[in-house]
Amino acid sequence: MPATVVVGTQWGDEGKGKLTDLLAKDMRLVVRYQGGHNAGHTIVVDGESFALQLIPSGVLYSHTVPVIGNGVVVDPAVLLAECDMLESRGVDTSRLVVSGNAHLIMPYHYEIDRATERALGKNKLGTTKRGIGPAYADKAARIGLRVQDLLDEKIFLEKLDVAVREKNAVLAKVYNRLALDRDEIADLYLHQLAPRISPMIGDTVSLVHEALEAGENLMLEGAQATFLDLDHGTYPFVTSSNPTAGGACVGTGIGPRDISRVVGISKAYVTRVGSGPFPTEVDGELADLLVDRGREYGTNTGRRRRPGWMDVVMLRQAARLNSLSEIALTKLDVLSELETVKVCVGYRVDGERLSRVPYHQSVQHRVEPIYEELPGWQDDLSGATTLEDLPKAARNYVECIESHAGVPVSYVGVGPGREQYVRFSQ
Ligand code: IMP
Repeated sequence: MPATVVVGTQWGDEGKGKLTDLLAKDMRLVVRYQGGHNAGHTIVVDGESFALQLIPSGVLYSHTVPVIGNGVVVDPAVLLAECDMLESRGVDTSRLVVSGNAHLIMPYHYEIDRATERALGKNKLGTTKRGIGPAYADKAARIGLRVQDLLDEKIFLEKLDVAVREKNAVLAKVYNRLALDRDEIADLYLHQLAPRISPMIGDTVSLVHEALEAGENLMLEGAQATFLDLDHGTYPFVTSSNPTAGGACVGTGIGPRDISRVVGISKAYVTRVGSGPFPTEVDGELADLLVDRGREYGTNTGRRRRPGWMDVVMLRQAARLNSLSEIALTKLDVLSELETVKVCVGYRVDGERLSRVPYHQSVQHRVEPIYEELPGWQDDLSGATTLEDLPKAARNYVECIESHAGVPVSYVGVGPGREQYVRFSQ
């Protein structure tokens, strides 16, 4: 069976973890294809909440093999801490396989992430400061260390020497920061982390292809989202990898014809963390209400997310960029009790109406949303399990999104629990 891709359609935090967990029920392999521990997935199983950063959500099912693909950047200390956390709560992590071609996040990547953000001042990107951008930059510059290098001390040290020399020069001369100790890094990675990581390292490209050839279901799990994509997002306020569905091919080593289904995850409203344009952003009481009800604080960083109304101009663009086959709409319950709900159906700029996301950064900052306002619903949706349980106004809202996006909505999330969703179309 070909693969299913799960991709965020906004600026992240759409609730991908819950959907991937739900879909993982029928999957043999769940493969993360990009990003690192800048991601945070929260999954609630039987009232117990699991916050995952690196390990794919499939780990919570005993029948799936969780895989960290070649497109991911891995801090091995974070990976081991996550394994320990899961093991201590009774989750078996022994099936986890990590691509030898994934790149390592090194201590100097954190330093450079922090230093560049500080240097950018008011223009800072608001990164997660996890060293993600600098790790991908080294990958592109071909001076990165890979997970497989943990298995070969000689290669590891050769590469480390080159990298540390360069990074220390940059840290000292450009950012006026202290140099990092090469021997300390070598000891940590080679002697403390490598022995535990080594058994997890594998050829994930072969693993994925063997699963495809055996007719198994597999899921390719993206982190972050479409508008944080390095190429298609609101650059420079983006992450340094490609969360869009094309990234799933590169980040796992399969071709586009092996993908049969692309599920776009969209929150029933929009949030963004960090800097960058956000046409439908709201403030005041409504912002507080959405943040409180939606628990809109970063899973890892604890940062308050910026909330706003649903934007179907973005959703249409996401449908094109990812060739979405369906949309899973999450957190509809958060909008209950509002008198009216708004959907942005176009933008106005310089007296003109736009129906597409403008490609130019300065225009992205200036667009004003054009809203369609719909009646709200007063009912608590958290117990809804069938379409009939949803009030008419809530159904209308979903149908409005569906028709503007031009893609069917297959699931509607009505609460954080594994079972709190309604099958919509299909
Ligand atoms: P970085 O990925 O840490 O380099 O951060 C770049 C931008 O992506 C910042 O605006 C972050 O807030 C945002 N970002 C990174 N990961 C996530 C995520 O998982 N959810 C939401 N935003 C994210």
